[in-house]
Amino acid sequence: MPQQSILLTGGAGYIGSHTFVALREAGLEPVILDNFANSHPAVLDRLHKLTGKPPLLEKGDVLDTPWVESVLKRHAPAGVVHFAGLKAVGESVAQPLRYYRQNVAGALSLAEAIQNASNGTPPALVFSSTATVYGDPDNVPVREDAPLRPSSPYAQTKLDVENMLLAAQVAQPAWRVGILRYFNPVGAHPSGLIGEDPSGIPNNLMPFVSQVAVGLRPHLSVFGNDYPTRDGTGVRDYIHVQDLALGHVAALKALLGGNQGFTLNLGSGRGSSVLEIVDAFGKACGKPVPYQVVARRPGDVAEYYADPSKANEVLGWQTRLGIEEMCADSWRWQSRNPRGYAG
Ligand code: WQD
Repeated sequence: MPQQSILLTGGAGYIGSHTFVALREAGLEPVILDNFANSHPAVLDRLHKLTGKPPLLEKGDVLDTPWVESVLKRHAPAGVVHFAGLKAVGESVAQPLRYYRQNVAGALSLAEAIQNASNGTPPALVFSSTATVYGDPDNVPVREDAPLRPSSPYAQTKLDVENMLLAAQVAQPAWRVGILRYFNPVGAHPSGLIGEDPSGIPNNLMPFVSQVAVGLRPHLSVFGNDYPTRDGTGVRDYIHVQDLALGHVAALKALLGGNQGFTLNLGSGRGSSVLEIVDAFGKACGKPVPYQVVARRPGDVAEYYADPSKANEVLGWQTRLGIEEMCADSWRWQSRNPRGYAG
């Protein structure tokens, strides 16, 4: 039985590369579509080491619709996972048109290529969305029917793409669309061969903490300790990237198995504060992580974490790994690759 191909746009990136490994382990054949604008080609050798054979790669830009159409015709994937896009909230405020171009026009280009390339049933489509479409929630844990309050151009682009893909499915019921709203992905593959490799100064907590621990940065700035939370620092739902990757495998299997589509929160259902992460990382790396408390970061909310019960019901999926593994696996990746894929 030929292995079913799954096209991963942005597949050389952080979530994409971990999903690549999980898909091969699940007996599927992922194909990476990436222009390496926000990822490093060195990941390809790591994926070869991890999976025993070189990754299938299509190097190019998802915005090149005719080329994407040719890729779809060449591989005839059973499914597509759309990871490609920009994801820094602050940057999206400074560069909104770039975010609309990459995130919205990129998704439109992919959807048009799928429409043009498929004769009959199009491939199942999984879209990498984000919990920041909820903005500052009224209640926690956050369910999928919570009010949608995107509070940055980045979050707005993700919600726009969700709505665009759902409209395409209404117009063409043969489409199968799975929307996955990630909470806070962290961690790395336990081998230490692949992991998060942000360019420049990390926006997110875990990569910043791990760069402090490895000596790249003097200390962490804790953005506020006067929030109405158990220790005054921000509370988030951290999800191990390995669990997130398995969530994508489960989503694809559901769509390939007859499910017509869903919108699901992918989180652990538990919140952890900044100081709890700092403490856990100190235990993982064997030394305290130095930090200084500074002013709140504009736009941050006090607390949000997922109600993942719908994902459990629909996909039979739930997280298995906790903060300890997230920190241990992040530390192994960072300590073995102090400067990420650049060596
Ligand atoms: C987590 C907590 C900060 C850095 C963002 C995006 C979201 C998703 C994940 C793409 C907060 C605190 C952080 C630092 C700190 N990305 N913090 N010092 O803001 O919850 O979510 O990343 O999908 O879309 O919005 O994650 O890791 O930036 O912050 O104190 O140097 O850590 O205040 O409480 P966030 P984060």
